[in-house]
Amino acid sequence: MTDKLIIFDTTLRDGEQSPGASMTKDEKLRIARQLERLKVDVIEAGFAASSNGDFEAVRAIALAIKDSTVCSLARANDRDIARAAEALKGGASTRIHLFLATSALHMEKKLRMTPDQVFEQAKLSTRFARNLSSDVEFSPEDGYRSDPDFLCRVIEAVIAEGATTINIPDTVGYAVPELYGQFILNLRQRIPNADKAIWSVHCHNDLGMAVANSLAGVKLGGARQVECTINGLGERAGNCSLEEVVMAVKTRRDYFDLTLGVDVSHIVAASRLVSQTTGFVVQPNKAVVGANAFAHASGIHQDGVLKARDTYEIMRAEDVGWAANKIVLGKLSGRNAFKQRLTELGIAMESETEINAAFAKFKELADRKSDIFDEDILALVMDESVTPENEHYRLLALSQHSEMGERPQASVAFAAGALEHHAQSDGNGPVDASLKAIESKISSGAEMLLYSVNAITSGSTESQGEVTVRLQLGGRVVNGVGADPDIVVASAKAYLAALNKLHSKIERVAAQG
Ligand code: KIV
Ligand code: ZN
Repeated sequence: MTDKLIIFDTTLRDGEQSPGASMTKDEKLRIARQLERLKVDVIEAGFAASSNGDFEAVRAIALAIKDSTVCSLARANDRDIARAAEALKGGASTRIHLFLATSALHMEKKLRMTPDQVFEQAKLSTRFARNLSSDVEFSPEDGYRSDPDFLCRVIEAVIAEGATTINIPDTVGYAVPELYGQFILNLRQRIPNADKAIWSVHCHNDLGMAVANSLAGVKLGGARQVECTINGLGERAGNCSLEEVVMAVKTRRDYFDLTLGVDVSHIVAASRLVSQTTGFVVQPNKAVVGANAFAHASGIHQDGVLKARDTYEIMRAEDVGWAANKIVLGKLSGRNAFKQRLTELGIAMESETEINAAFAKFKELADRKSDIFDEDILALVMDESVTPENEHYRLLALSQHSEMGERPQASVAFAAGALEHHAQSDGNGPVDASLKAIESKISSGAEMLLYSVNAITSGSTESQGEVTVRLQLGGRVVNGVGADPDIVVASAKAYLAALNKLHSKIERVAAQG
């Protein structure tokens, strides 16, 4: 009988740990709903004990999601575990994921604990977690660089305490495929009770081998769960990419001989949603979800594909959801058509007020842009101003003047709470002038780490510009995203969206303390 490969998505936890990728509760909930639509088996929703914001996000996701298991990370101590259990309470299917470092380096330098202390803590915390949940995953952090004898001792003990999944992280992305696969196999063969748990792989991409290592862990090591993120989002060089690992297993079923629960037709929508939410742009040549992943530019390839698709194609673009680039709505579309499209795109709006606000923005956009694509709608609902609770700063008007050889000037009107500000400035370019005008009133002192502009839909100049601004202030890094056919307006929106995030009090703590 063919085994099932469990897909554990950690975009909302490990992915979110990427600097600048932190998300609000509503953003996380929206992505969780898309992951449920994608039918991933497990959604790691966050790290409940790390902040009140993450606790609330895990709680909201646990209550909203019915078809995937919702998981919270926890350090191996009673407080973290109790907090995770509390956040997950009431969820249809939930899991607590414990982690504790086991490599000599981490135990000595980071934890300042002896191996015996780590062993005891691993055992006791697993026991504690099992009293609160029947589904407990244990991760020896930096597992791949740990002494195999010690790792065997710890893993045997936590399985005896009831851990149901054992995950072996390559925390620093040091592994190479064959050795990682052998490492997992060796552990499974040496640990007497290994068959009482599901084995999982968790690979970081520092050497660009996260997907290859994960697949080796599955094929050679016998792991039956892969931990991964949409677009490979994650700290440093990221995590194993969900879309790549899933499509590899599906496309090479002849080799892997595994089944998957994932509905791959939602992959592209998930990729777009994560990219638009975090501002982490997907490189055009990224496998499966990059804009060029299925584009055949060379004449020989085009000719071949036209004659028989499989001459140059191993997957079909439409199978992973690439068919969506079509005109969906226009100026004459009504509220019902708009609402229907939101539902088809999986965007759940809680209240009529929210739908009305989004529809007003849609009408405003349709007046200026004749063809509205799915991406435009996604950008529109991504715009912070749709949820007035998050919105302290709001753009009211913007005009700018630029002429070759002259220094550009901008005038910006924006609301800050109940106040209305009018500001003027010059700048190196119209965007610079507009943002300087805003800053002249707010004096946020934030440092800009990133400014990027992208065409949301096709390469044409009729497309909306989507701008991402990343700001840093007092140790916090936030992204603001703004979309508009006018990129200067999109820039001002993105800047104010980032300032809104800095203004909100959602605090975050690094997950791995
Ligand atoms: O990379 C890592 O070690 C982790 C663990 C917390 C599972 O993300
Ligand atoms: Zn990780």
